[in-house]
Amino acid sequence: MFLLLVLAMGIGCGSPTPRSAVIATTPITIIPLPVTVDEVSTRVTFVYSGDAIYADSSVLAIAEYLSTALHQLHPGFELTPTPSAEHAVIQFTIDPLIDGLDGYELSITSERVTIRAASPSGCFYGVQTLLQLQHETESPNALAFLNTNVRDQARFKHRGLLLDCCRHFVEKEAIKRYIELLARYKMNVFHWHLTEDQGWRLQSTAYPKLTEIGAWRKQADGSSYGGYYTQNEVIDIVKHAEKHFVTVIPEIELPGHSSAAIASYPWLSCFGDTIEVATEWGVFKDIYCAGSDTTLRFLETIFDEVMALFPSEHIHIGGDEAPKQHWENCPKCQQRIRDEGLADAHELQSWMVAHFAQYLNEHGKKLIGWDEILEGGLPAGCTVQAWRGTEGGIQAAQLGADAIMSPTSHAYFDYGVHTTDLEQVYRFNPVPSELTPDESRHIIGGECNMWTEHAPQHTLDSKLFPRLLAMAEVLWTPQARRVYSEFYQRVQREYPRLDAQAVQYGPEGRSFAHTALERHTNQWWLPIERKTSFDSVQYTFGSTRKNLELNEDRVQLPKTQGAHHLQLFAFKNQSIDTVKIGTAIHEALFAKVERTHPYSAFYTAGGDAALTDGLIGSHDFRDGFWQAYSGHDLEATLYFDEHKRFNTLEFPIYVYGNAWIFPPEFVELSISDNGVDWELITRLKNPLNEGDPRQGIVMLSSRFDTVTASQVRIRAKNRGVCPPWHDAAGEPAWLFCSEIMLMLQ
Ligand code: ACM
Ligand code: ZN
Repeated sequence: MFLLLVLAMGIGCGSPTPRSAVIATTPITIIPLPVTVDEVSTRVTFVYSGDAIYADSSVLAIAEYLSTALHQLHPGFELTPTPSAEHAVIQFTIDPLIDGLDGYELSITSERVTIRAASPSGCFYGVQTLLQLQHETESPNALAFLNTNVRDQARFKHRGLLLDCCRHFVEKEAIKRYIELLARYKMNVFHWHLTEDQGWRLQSTAYPKLTEIGAWRKQADGSSYGGYYTQNEVIDIVKHAEKHFVTVIPEIELPGHSSAAIASYPWLSCFGDTIEVATEWGVFKDIYCAGSDTTLRFLETIFDEVMALFPSEHIHIGGDEAPKQHWENCPKCQQRIRDEGLADAHELQSWMVAHFAQYLNEHGKKLIGWDEILEGGLPAGCTVQAWRGTEGGIQAAQLGADAIMSPTSHAYFDYGVHTTDLEQVYRFNPVPSELTPDESRHIIGGECNMWTEHAPQHTLDSKLFPRLLAMAEVLWTPQARRVYSEFYQRVQREYPRLDAQAVQYGPEGRSFAHTALERHTNQWWLPIERKTSFDSVQYTFGSTRKNLELNEDRVQLPKTQGAHHLQLFAFKNQSIDTVKIGTAIHEALFAKVERTHPYSAFYTAGGDAALTDGLIGSHDFRDGFWQAYSGHDLEATLYFDEHKRFNTLEFPIYVYGNAWIFPPEFVELSISDNGVDWELITRLKNPLNEGDPRQGIVMLSSRFDTVTASQVRIRAKNRGVCPPWHDAAGEPAWLFCSEIMLMLQ
C-alpha cells in the first residue's frame, strides 16, 4: 500500500515547478562520506505547490521525520497526507534489489528526489544524506538541493556511542538530543551505561532501594548528587531512539563497578558490609558475590526488568575492572570454585559471565562484555568490546566471536584532545591488520566511549564534537575512501550546521605541537608548531611575556640547568588557550638510554629517547610525555659521548593511586666508566606516605658531591602490585617517569 503526503505551501495548487540553476562547483559536505557521490555543478530548486512525498507505508514515519526536519528549516512548509501521488516530488521506494548494509540510492534530478532502499534504515540514511545536500535558496518558499546521485552503504553494522550517565547524571532530554545527533551522522547504537560505583540510574520495581539509596552520593559539601531514570522515561527514550534507527543497549555492570548496588543492598557482596555510594573515581573492591545464589537471583530479576524495557538483542554486562580479593577470601565464592571445578577467581568470573550469557540467551538476548571477559575463557555466544587496546577484539575474532572496537588509543572521548585529537580518531581502523578476512567479519563495529568522571552534562558537547564526526566516518565509510585532509575540509564546512543545531563543539586538537629540543648557536630551543591559526601568540618561562611572532617557530630556553615551565598563550577572537609545556636543561640531554624492562605500549612518551629529551609530562598523565612501567622497574643505563660532571639528580614522577600509579619505593643512581664497575652515588627514598591520595607530578631530587662519569644507571623500584589496602590490591602497579635530569648546580 502506498500512502502519500502533500507538501502544501501557501495558496494555490498545481504541478511542481522545479528549476535547475548552474552553480560554481560546490564542494559536497556529507559526513560520513558516502560510498559514491556524483560530481555536482547544479542546484535544483523546488518551489512547492501541492507537491507530495510519496512513501511506502513501512517508511511513512521517515517521511514524517523528513517533513519535520524541512519544516524546521523552512517553517512555511507543512506536510499532510493526501490520496494522490501524482505529483510526488520526493519518493521513497522500498526496493529489495538495493544491496548493502543500511544501503540506499539517492537521486536528485530536476524532476524529483528519489530514495530507494531495501530497508527502512537505508531509507532513513538516504534522508540524512538528502538533508546534508540542502543548499541555500533565495526564497523561503523554495527548497534547493545539490543535484547529484549517491550510492551508499555502511561499513559496519554497530556504530555506537557509549554515554556514562552514572559518574555524572545526564538528563532525559539531553539523551534524546544526543540520539538525534547520532542519527544525523548515521550512527545507530546508544550504549547506555546505567550502573556504577558512583550511582545506580535505572528504576527497579523489585528493588526500589537501588534508586532510593543507590542513585545518590554525598558530595564534599554534604549535599547529595544524583538522579535516575524512571521506567517510563526509559520507555520514552527507547521509543525516541527507535524513531531514529538507534538501538539502545543498556549496560548493567557485573561483577565490579557495583558499589552503588551494594550500598543499597549490602547482602549482594561477599561479606555484607555496609558501604556508601562511591564518591571518588576509581576501581573498588566491593563487588557482587559470585558464590551467593541470592545475589545471582537479584541480578536475574534486574535482567528480567531490563529485558522488558529494552528491545535490543544485546545486553551489556560490563565485566571490566573487578578486583578479586574478596572472592579469594569468601567461603561462598571458594565453595563455588570447588563445586564448579574452577581453577581460580578469574575462572569464577568467567563462570559468572557464562551464567548470565545463558540466562540472556534463554530469553532471546545476547551478552556483550568488556575485554576482561576473555580472561578465564570466553563463554560461547558472547560479544567482546575491546577497550584495553585492540588485543581483546583480535582474540575474540580469532576465537570466532564478535567484537566491538573501542580502544583507549582512539575511541576514549573522556581523554582530552591533547591525547586524542580529531585526526587520531579519524586514523582509527577498527579492523586490525592481524586478522584474516574471515576473522575480520567478526569485527561488527566500534564505539566512542564517553566516560563522565570529568565531564558533567554541560561539557559533553565539547568533548563529543567534532570528534564524533570522525568516529561516524570511521564506522560508515569504506577504509579506502577515507582521507584525513579531505575529511578535515568537510568538518570545517559542517561547523555552521553544528551551530544551527546549537552544538557547543570543542577544539579539534592541541593548539601547538612541540618536538624534541634543538641546539643552535650553543643554545637550547624548543620547536613549536602551530596546529591552528591564531590572532597572536605570547609565551613566558616565568613572569615576562614575549610575543611569538608569526615567522618564529621555536622559543629559546633559559640557560640555567633545571626544569623550566613554558606557558604559551594563543589568542583568537575573544578566547585565550593556555598551553603549559615542561622542559628541562641538564647534562644528560640526548644521552643514549638502554633499558632492562620495556615501557608500556600505552605510555611511551614517544619512545626510547623520551627520558633524556628535555621534555617533562604535564598534570595530564595521558598527555603523551609520560613513560610508564607496569609491574616492573625502570632500570636505565645512560651513555655519554664524553665524561659528564654533575652533583644533582632530579626525577619527575607522576602519582595517582586511584589510577594505580604509585611512586617508586626508591630511586638509585650509580656511575661507571667501564660498564662493569658501578658505584652507588645516591639512593632516594619514596618521600610520600603510604596511601597519600594526591594526584599529580612529584619531583624527586637528590644533591651529592660532584662526580664524573661516562655511564649512569638509574633504577626506580616499582612497588610491583597495588598494596593490600588498595581496591585493586594485587593488580600490577604503574610507575610513571618522564625525564632523568642530571645537573651541575
Ligand atoms: C572501561 O573503560 N573500564 C571499560
Ligand atoms: Zn563471595
